[in-house]
Amino acid sequence: MFAVAYVSKQKNLFCERDLIALASAANTRNSQLDITGYLFHKGGYFFQYLEGEQEPLSILMSSIKRDPRHCISRIVEIGEIEERSFAVWNMRYVTPDELDEINLEDIAQDVILRMTRPTFSEDMVKDRIVAIVRRIAELQTGRPEIGSAQPN
Ligand SMILES: Cc1cc2nc3c(=O)[nH]c(=O)nc-3n(C[C@H](O)[C@H](O)[C@H](O)COP(=O)(O)O)c2cc1C
Repeated sequence: MFAVAYVSKQKNLFCERDLIALASAANTRNSQLDITGYLFHKGGYFFQYLEGEQEPLSILMSSIKRDPRHCISRIVEIGEIEERSFAVWNMRYVTPDELDEINLEDIAQDVILRMTRPTFSEDMVKDRIVAIVRRIAELQTGRPEIGSAQPN
């Protein structure tokens, strides 16, 4: 099992409805690929964390990379992981309210900032990603998968 994260800059404006539609389509495909993770959007940037087997992950990343709706600033290979952190979310869009609720606004901003500046080393970025994954994983309990056509 492997994990990867990236930050990208949007090329057009995304409203809440667009984000939910994106997550819904992503959810269907990710469940076919047995990929789990989450996505948030802040200040015109996306942050996405994905986990799954290496081959489906790289197939999905190829699709995401060529998507004209955004432009990837930085990809961080987290590498091999023992187990999934997001077993119940194929692709969960984490809303701004939820980030706020678990006091993650600052850390979310920080991870985007670090990932868009080349001065931050891979290790400094990974630390933040691991911290954010832990916090967001806490949201899973009892929360539906926003953007999921059929909750699983
Ligand atoms: C920020 C962002 C995140 C995305 N995340 C996913 C995802 O997790 N799963 C997915 O299937 N598609 C995701 N997409 C859509 C893909 O880029 C792509 O449009 C879709 O997978 C169809 O792939 P294809 O063009 O190779 O057919 C995302 C798009 C954007 C802009």
